[in-house]
Amino acid sequence: MMKQCVLLLSLVLSPSALAETTADVWKAKCASCHGIDGKAQTKMGQKESIGDMSRPDWQQARTDADIRKVIADGDPRNSKMKPFKDKLTPAQIDALVGLIRTLKAPSAP
Ligand code: HEC
Repeated sequence: MMKQCVLLLSLVLSPSALAETTADVWKAKCASCHGIDGKAQTKMGQKESIGDMSRPDWQQARTDADIRKVIADGDPRNSKMKPFKDKLTPAQIDALVGLIRTLKAPSAP
């Protein structure tokens, strides 16, 4: 478990400038609810039953466009997920979709 966290962190905090910025945005604006690892093991995650983004079935059930739309426009199913289109640039939103894809855990054997 700890090992996985360290692995994930080093992945998210990889040295490319873009990845760094995106990881910062994720950390500052998203991780309080979704968790740094996307598993939503947070207070808000528990309260709102936020989905675990690291699950392969979560990843598979959503297209990049689906994910992008929720980040830009908010989640129609839950008003706690606010629209970010006025707070983030389209490029930042695209980059967050990319980051969310990296949260995918390896499929269960
Ligand atoms: C105040 C808490 C909160 C913050 C901050 C937050 N979210 Fe959410 N988010 C939610 C909730 C609640 C949902 C709806 C529950 C769910 O879909 O699992 C949600 C849903 C989503 C979904 C759709 C999940 C699905 O099942 O399709 C995506 C994608 C998402 N958030 C990404 C982000 C990103 C990226 C950020 C930062 C820019 C962010 N969220 C910030 C609470 C939050």
